[in-house]
Amino acid sequence: TITPVLLCGGSGTRLWPLSRKSYPKQFAPFLGRESLFQASAKRLSGEGFAPPLVVTASEFRFIVTEQLGGAGIDPGAILIEPEGRNTAPAVLAAALWLEKTDPDALMLVAPSDHVIPEPEAFHAVLETGAEAARAGRMVTFGIAPDRPETGYGWLELAEAGGEGVQDLVRFVEKPDEDKASAMLDAGRFLWNAGIFLFSVRTILDAFRAHAPDLMEPVGAALDKGREDLGFLRLDPEAWEGADDISIDYAVMERADNLSVVPFDGRWSDLGDWYAVWRETADDTGVAQAGNALAIDCEDTLLRSEAEGQALVGIGLQNIVAVAMPDAVLVADASRAQDVKIAVSALKDRG
Ligand code: GDD
Ligand code: MG
Repeated sequence: TITPVLLCGGSGTRLWPLSRKSYPKQFAPFLGRESLFQASAKRLSGEGFAPPLVVTASEFRFIVTEQLGGAGIDPGAILIEPEGRNTAPAVLAAALWLEKTDPDALMLVAPSDHVIPEPEAFHAVLETGAEAARAGRMVTFGIAPDRPETGYGWLELAEAGGEGVQDLVRFVEKPDEDKASAMLDAGRFLWNAGIFLFSVRTILDAFRAHAPDLMEPVGAALDKGREDLGFLRLDPEAWEGADDISIDYAVMERADNLSVVPFDGRWSDLGDWYAVWRETADDTGVAQAGNALAIDCEDTLLRSEAEGQALVGIGLQNIVAVAMPDAVLVADASRAQDVKIAVSALKDRG
């Protein structure tokens, strides 16, 4: 079996005002009734999967248990980070926990803010990757790129168009625009889906080799951690010693035992409103959700989550409008990345 490690500690500010610091995007019902977190947990449950290990922040712990319960899933363990230190310490804590409880496990590290609408297709590539992971490879999943995206990792293949498990030439995290364009043109690069499959032993060896400074603080945070109402709280003092770094920079860019399995099913990282719009628009480019009505609009997203409050757009183009009971966002669709600027400006105003 495969043990899912669900990371859900991020705060998702680019999806304000639906995503809040206290209730980030992965827990909000975006598409349909389920949250992205519930959909991710369900996608990685059932036959072939062990109960998931969840790594999250203290303020989300009850949302996590409530939403897992709602999805009919029993977690294996829930590790609580005293503070977000990005994904490398979170994955290392999960690996060290599994080393004690299930040292032969294969771990599938999965973010909880993705959309993969066809889980069966994804299960098939997981199965393909599992054999390589058992043989000591760190397996990534590759998406065919369609733009010079600087917010993703890029995976270099020896040649374009291969199928099944392939060795990776290089992993490049978040390139600048010139590099991203060059990689897109080269044609033998895939995007990193942000999902990783490896054995507990393999990832611990990789941390020891490439991020040795994390071993001591994260190990101590786990050893001195304490049980609290079924949650395992990592020790705050020890955790402070861990660098704030993502697994992509800490391990993946430095490793030489990476493989990739191309995934050609639909995949989307719902990072900002532009991505939500792309994922939900009809063929006139209009996406409407909640109590919203678009009249003669093009390439526009309208969404009202405020009960009893209608949101109407007439003759709009390239607009994103999101209404919540206490906040309304109206923006040019091309400025979706800048929502995080608005969030910090509001915070400064207090
Ligand atoms: N528990 C925990 N603690 N989870 C975290 C933390 C943390 O400190 N920081 C981030 N996460 C969770 C987020 O909630 C998300 O589900 C996942 O880890 C990935 O973090 P992101 O911050 O969203 O990463 P990214 O999107 O910039 O980049 C990653 O994903 C891309 C694809 O979506 C990288 O792996 C890229 O290479 C990849 O292309
Ligand atoms: Mg992301």
